[in-house]
Amino acid sequence: MSHPILPKRAIAAHFLPDRYRYWYSLSKLAIDPLYAAAPGAFRDASEPVLDLGCGIGLLLHCLRASGRNLPYLGVDTDAVKIEAARNASARGCHNDASFEVCDLSVRFPAHRGSVALLDVLQYLPLPAQGTLLSQAAECVSKKGQLVIRTGLADGSWRSAMTRATDRLGHWVGWMKTSFKAQPSAQELRAGLRRHGLRAEFKPLWGRTPFNNWLVVAQRP
Ligand SMILES: C[S@@+](CC[C@H](N)C(=O)[O-])C[C@H]1O[C@@H](n2cnc3c(N)ncnc32)[C@H](O)[C@@H]1O
Repeated sequence: MSHPILPKRAIAAHFLPDRYRYWYSLSKLAIDPLYAAAPGAFRDASEPVLDLGCGIGLLLHCLRASGRNLPYLGVDTDAVKIEAARNASARGCHNDASFEVCDLSVRFPAHRGSVALLDVLQYLPLPAQGTLLSQAAECVSKKGQLVIRTGLADGSWRSAMTRATDRLGHWVGWMKTSFKAQPSAQELRAGLRRHGLRAEFKPLWGRTPFNNWLVVAQRP
């Protein structure tokens, strides 16, 4: 599937005057294939999106730049990132978009539609991953999708590299939360099936050395 060409500099400019966030978002958009691929995974043009662990809200900008004007709510436990996400959303003049501070291990927002869970699972222990996955799956409407990006535990060198980089990210302070565990494809597929979702797995590592996969689950 061909992906849209994102206006990377224009999106990154929404994070100015914070130069750190400008360069961070520009490099993420340039290097990580996630942001060009994710908008196309939300196949229905009207289902609202709940972005779990949204960080600075890059998904919102990519959705809008790809012509997907879906109502959007981003939640994250990191209040500083949520503040940055709100400011950038305002600078981008995005309507129907909001952000909330929310620790998903304590509270799960009420929602019906589509759900994004991008690079978040690895920061939760396996039992908590199962709980979050169940809560996310329960929100998915008939026409909605659950879009997950995650590293997978499969014994490959990419899998080991992904774990090591996630640990390093915490150690150098990029991530407040520490790496906990990678799910396996079998665990993920079985967990989604228990909630009536059928999942499609596609590798999404682009030119990176990571074992990243895009998982799109929906009701058959
Ligand atoms: C690697 S970042 C991914 C950000 C965003 N989803 C993206 O792909 O650009 C992981 C995010 O998960 C958030 N996170 C980790 N544990 C969380 C929790 N218990 N509740 C809410 N957010 C959490 C972190 O604060 C961080 O912003």
